[in-house]
Amino acid sequence: MEILIVDNPSKLANYAATFIAARVNQAERLVLGLATGSTPVNTYRELSALYRSGKLDFSKVVSINLDEYVGLSAEDKQSYRQFMNENLFNHVNINLANTHIFNGKAEDFAQECARYDSLIVEKGGIDLQLLGIGMNGHIGFNEPDDYFSMTSHVVDLSTETILSNAPYFESVDQMPKQALTMGIGQIFKAKTILLLATGESKSAVITSALLGPVTPRCPASILQLHQDVTILLDCEAARGILGAKGVYYKEIH
Ligand code: GLP
Repeated sequence: MEILIVDNPSKLANYAATFIAARVNQAERLVLGLATGSTPVNTYRELSALYRSGKLDFSKVVSINLDEYVGLSAEDKQSYRQFMNENLFNHVNINLANTHIFNGKAEDFAQECARYDSLIVEKGGIDLQLLGIGMNGHIGFNEPDDYFSMTSHVVDLSTETILSNAPYFESVDQMPKQALTMGIGQIFKAKTILLLATGESKSAVITSALLGPVTPRCPASILQLHQDVTILLDCEAARGILGAKGVYYKEIH
């Protein structure tokens, strides 16, 4: 696990975009796992800027998003499909037919999850997975649980997640209480993982995920066992690990 610490969120976005762009440009074809949430927004902005300046080409990228809210259609303003369109897809030369997100309005969610599982396999697995982290250690929408889920599934969102994400909706009642998410097993199978975290509010969860026990009670802790994971933090999110014993990190100024 490589832990990199940068000074602030804008440097983090810059570094993350350069990291992703290098992989995209090197590959003949890249399956990119994408995340939503506020953390990657600036990274997506930087990626769009790299595309505009001719330094990045998304034409050979296939994207697969981590999750979607149950009950929201692709047209719904709060859906993760709209989030991706607005923050990235509308600004770069990715072929929309190559962008994949769960259908939050599927009639049969078991079937939708099976479709997603087959899609990931059919695309040859995820080459690079971008992740944020929830306040309770969730990745995708894999909430703390008694076990690590292997495949796509419907999840009941925890109260903590509902409260953190409710501000994106007009009221807490409008926020879906369930989501569709890729399983931890599928995330873990990604060849390379890049996890981003910024701000002091993430410092406690980052400390438990990176230094605590590997447990499904903190889903992101599984990343400690992955062979190619980069954890990119700003100073605030890294506060709990700075100077901690037995942890190796690099500071980039
Ligand atoms: C959301 C998403 C996650 C994301 C997390 C953190 O609920 N499902 O993929 O990583 O919450 O969000 P933020 O970056 O806004 O803190």
